[in-house]
Amino acid sequence: MGKLFSRTQVGRFELQHRVVLAPLTRMRTDPGNVPGDLMVEYYTQRATEGGLLITDATAVSPLGIAYVDAPGIYTEEQVRGWKRVIEAVHAKGARIFLQMWHAGRQAHPANTGGITPVAPSALRSLEHAAIRDDSGQIAEAELIVPRPLEKAEIPGIVDQFRHGAELAKRAGFDGIELHSANGYLFEQFLLDGTNHRDDEYGGSIENRARFLFDTLDAVVSVWGAGRVAVRLSPSGTYGTMSDSNPHATFGYVADRLNQYDLAYVHVIEPRIRGIVEQETTDVDVTSKDIRRIYKGTIIAAGGFTGESAEQIVTDGHADLVAFGRMFISNPDLPERLRTGAPLTRYDRSTFYGGDARGYTDYTSRADAVAA
Ligand SMILES: Cc1cc2nc3c(=O)[nH]c(=O)nc-3n(C[C@H](O)[C@H](O)[C@H](O)COP(=O)(O)O)c2cc1C
Repeated sequence: MGKLFSRTQVGRFELQHRVVLAPLTRMRTDPGNVPGDLMVEYYTQRATEGGLLITDATAVSPLGIAYVDAPGIYTEEQVRGWKRVIEAVHAKGARIFLQMWHAGRQAHPANTGGITPVAPSALRSLEHAAIRDDSGQIAEAELIVPRPLEKAEIPGIVDQFRHGAELAKRAGFDGIELHSANGYLFEQFLLDGTNHRDDEYGGSIENRARFLFDTLDAVVSVWGAGRVAVRLSPSGTYGTMSDSNPHATFGYVADRLNQYDLAYVHVIEPRIRGIVEQETTDVDVTSKDIRRIYKGTIIAAGGFTGESAEQIVTDGHADLVAFGRMFISNPDLPERLRTGAPLTRYDRSTFYGGDARGYTDYTSRADAVAA
């Protein structure tokens, strides 16, 4: 492998290779949505000298949580928990960005303390949340019609992101990534299928993008240039998402992102819908399309193999590649891709929630040889 294992600059940081851990919700926090020992071990296993890790989607408020036992960044206990993760990752020479998240209408009252989830408009997602049922088991639950946000409430959510960004900085993260993908609150505002507002947060693309860019301004004011990133899924439909003109919507967003000196823009390829493969269409927006508009560093994600990752960075359509499912089952994925070693297959049944099984018990090749 060639370029995938060459050095590159991501914002303020020089990395030694371009294989990134994609943000992955694994639902394994301690009580209080606090990262604990299990998460410290999981991230440490995936940290490499000069590599980049992106965390689980991490909620800026209880109302932002779609999945039980997903992490947060709004309490001091959570800051302490993350600090332990970060110290362990840094000790192995890796960088770690926090993915900051608000689920909007994808949240569920069982995870929000009974509060009705909020969204740009009162439109229900046909997706499911993961909750803990009366017997303590993790169960899927239908989502409910969200409460449309009052205009005056929106700056308060921007402030939650600002506060989360301050806590993330204090915890010691290297940077933050706004989760503006996969059908959560930023995307609910951006796409016209979910945003039917008639105030200055709805209607034109300038208006639909206002919440994202107001938040970006707020978190950049905390972090400064080069340490903030944005994730987009321009052709994603997960979360019952749709837009009448994705090329116009995401062309506008990508162009405006040029005005920020971001660490990177993270683009999910159309072949992936959330976590499963989908058919592609001729209206899809790919990382190649975003590359034509956005001038900074791009991480591509979604269904990559070692070969296709090498290809996209060699072709120059992306600078780095994030891996999700294969990094779950191969904690030493960068080394396996570098050496062409066989990959361990992942077990989908242990993706969400549970204990060490399917989380920290996948062995690296070095462990396997030593055992
Ligand atoms: C178990 C699981 C959890 C995920 N959680 C998140 C998440 O928290 N935030 C996010 O942006 N994407 C999330 N994704 C999407 C991945 O980041 C990635 O885009 C997707 O898995 C496609 O990449 P892959 O083909 O390499 O797995 C998740 C995917 C999986 C499999």
